[in-house]
Amino acid sequence: MSATLDILFDEKTIAEKVAELAARISSDYAGRDLVLVGVLKGAAVFLADLARRITIPVTVDFVQASSYGMSTTSSGRIAVSKDVSCDIRGKDVLLVDTIVDTGETLSRLFELFKEKGPASLKAVVLLDKRCRRAADVPLAYAGFEVPDAFVVGYGVDHAEKYRNLPYIAVVERSDR
Ligand code: IMP
Ligand code: MG
Repeated sequence: MSATLDILFDEKTIAEKVAELAARISSDYAGRDLVLVGVLKGAAVFLADLARRITIPVTVDFVQASSYGMSTTSSGRIAVSKDVSCDIRGKDVLLVDTIVDTGETLSRLFELFKEKGPASLKAVVLLDKRCRRAADVPLAYAGFEVPDAFVVGYGVDHAEKYRNLPYIAVVERSDR
């Protein structure tokens, strides 16, 4: 398979948006006990940049959930394969993901995390594929709205490739 990449958001555009989101989060959570929970693997790059732009003390943890596997279409199943390692009871939890598509993953994670008794539970995503939303997910912070296209880069993969691209691009596959 060969693929062409059309850049949707370049490094500078992403950095500006991340700084803007971090400024809002820093102000909204001032004086609170904020835990950033990155959704692996996709959120690793975004979380690393976002956390470094947040100016208040934070705790960082990760959860792993998968809904897509090696395909570009949803399997409709979500598995939680790694849970957080710290106790989030009474903490202000912010789930961090790079892209929300149908919303199934985040909505499932909301259910799971509510049971852990956090003081508050919200989500931040960089990319919002709003036109594909099927599950009700309250997004406290969303960076960019993206069209119904398959995107990669900045932590987001296609078959585990492209996560290291510093920009976000649309993949045009030549085999379909
Ligand atoms: P959702 O459960 O349908 O919201 O899907 C969430 C997950 O699917 C994301 O965290 C990504 O891992 C993956 N995903 C959704 N859209 C894309 C895309 O355009 N490119 C790559 N992965 C995607
Ligand atoms: Mg994936």
